[in-house]
Amino acid sequence: MQNKTAVGILGATGIVGQRFVQMLENHPWFEVAWLAASDRSEGKLYADAVRWRMKTQLPARVANLQVAPAKPEGAPKIIFAALDAAIASELEPRFAEAGCAVVSNSSALRMQSDVPLVIPEVNSDHMKLLECQKWRRHSRGFVVTNPNCSAIGLVMALAPLQQKFGIETVMAVTMQAVSGAGYPGVASLDILGNVIPYIAKEEEKMEEETLKLLGRLEGSRIVPAPFGMSAHCNRVAVEDGHTESVSVKLKKQAGNDEIIQAWNDFRSAPQEMRLPSAPRQPVQYQTAADRPQPRFDVDAGNGMTATVGRLRPCSVLDWKFTVLSHNTIRGAAGAALLNAELLKVQGYLE
Ligand SMILES: NC(=O)c1ccc[n+]([C@@H]2O[C@H](COP(=O)([O-])OP(=O)(O)OC[C@H]3O[C@@H](n4cnc5c(N)ncnc54)[C@H](OP(=O)(O)O)[C@@H]3O)[C@@H](O)[C@H]2O)c1
Repeated sequence: MQNKTAVGILGATGIVGQRFVQMLENHPWFEVAWLAASDRSEGKLYADAVRWRMKTQLPARVANLQVAPAKPEGAPKIIFAALDAAIASELEPRFAEAGCAVVSNSSALRMQSDVPLVIPEVNSDHMKLLECQKWRRHSRGFVVTNPNCSAIGLVMALAPLQQKFGIETVMAVTMQAVSGAGYPGVASLDILGNVIPYIAKEEEKMEEETLKLLGRLEGSRIVPAPFGMSAHCNRVAVEDGHTESVSVKLKKQAGNDEIIQAWNDFRSAPQEMRLPSAPRQPVQYQTAADRPQPRFDVDAGNGMTATVGRLRPCSVLDWKFTVLSHNTIRGAAGAALLNAELLKVQGYLE
C-alpha cells in the first residue's frame, strides 16, 4: 500500500460505487482495499459482479478484488458508502458502531442533528458536530454525509451570494440526469423524448438540506439558514449533469458584475488546504448566452466545479440564473472524497 490509507466502498457495484473506484485510482492518500455490495454480488470478483458503466477502464487491481460481505468485520476503518437510503439507515450505523469513519452519500442520516452534512467549500466548520456524535463518543467511529446531488450545485452557487449579500428567498427548478437514479435507473421507454416532473422525496431533500448546509453552527447544533426556499424537481433525458434554473432574492442590493465576481472569486478551505480533489475554481461563470449545458460543461474542474450562467434580473425576485453540476462526481463520489480529504487534514482519520 506504500503509505496510502486503505479504504473500503460499500455499494461498490452501483453507479456511485463505480465512480468511487474510478476517482480513487491513483489517489495520493487513499487506496481501495475492500469492496462490498448486496448478497447478489458477495463472493464474486469485482469484475464479474459489476456492470462497469464508467468511460475509463476498470482498474485491473480492483477488478481482481473479491466482493466482501457488507459487514464491518474485516473492513478497513475508512468506508465510502453508496447505498440506497433504506439499506444505509441499517448498515451505516453498524459500521460507525464498529469504529469506522463512514463517509456517506445516502440521505438516510443527513438530517440527523449530530451528523455533519458538509460541502468543504461551504461549511467545513460543521465537521465539529462529530465531537458530540454518539458513535464517535462510544467507538471513535462516525458518519459524515454529503448532500443530495441537486442540492450541492444549488448551494455552491448560493454560498458566495449568501456570504456577500445575504439571501432572503430562493426558487429552484431542476432538470436532473438519468444517472442520478442509479443503474439501471429510469427505463428508457419512460424517459426518451420525455420529462418526468417527479422524483420521490427530492424536493423535500433539496429544501431542507440547503437550509442545513447554509445554516450556522451554534455549539452542538446547526441553526438552519432562515430564508424561504422552494424546489421543483424534474428528470430529463440527459446522461450526467443536473441543470437548475434559480431565482433568488438577496438581502442587500447587488449588481450584475458584483454577483459574477462573487462566484468567480469564491475560494475556500479545500483550495487553501490544496486538497487533492479540490477544483482550482469551485464556481465558474460562463459568459456565453446559452451556457451552461451538460454536454459541454459537466466535466469542468474534473467534474468538481459548478458552472453558473445566464445571470439576469428576475421580475418577481431579484436575480435569476442557471447552474450545472456533475451529479455522480460533485454530487456524489467526488463530494464524499473531498469530505474524506478534509477529515484527514482536520485529524479525524487518525
Ligand atoms: N446516482 C447519483 O447521481 C447519486 C448522487 C448522490 C447521491 N446518490 C445516493 O448514493 C446512493 C447510491 O446510489 P447509486 O446511484 O449508486 O445506486 P445504484 O446504482 O442502485 O447502486 C446501489 C448499490 O447498493 C448495493 N446494495 C443493494 N442492496 C444492498 C444490500 N442489501 N446490502 C449491501 N449493498 C446493497 C448494490 O449492490 P448490488 O449490485 O449487489 O445489487 C449497489 O452496489 C443512494 O443513496 C443515492 O441516493 C446517488
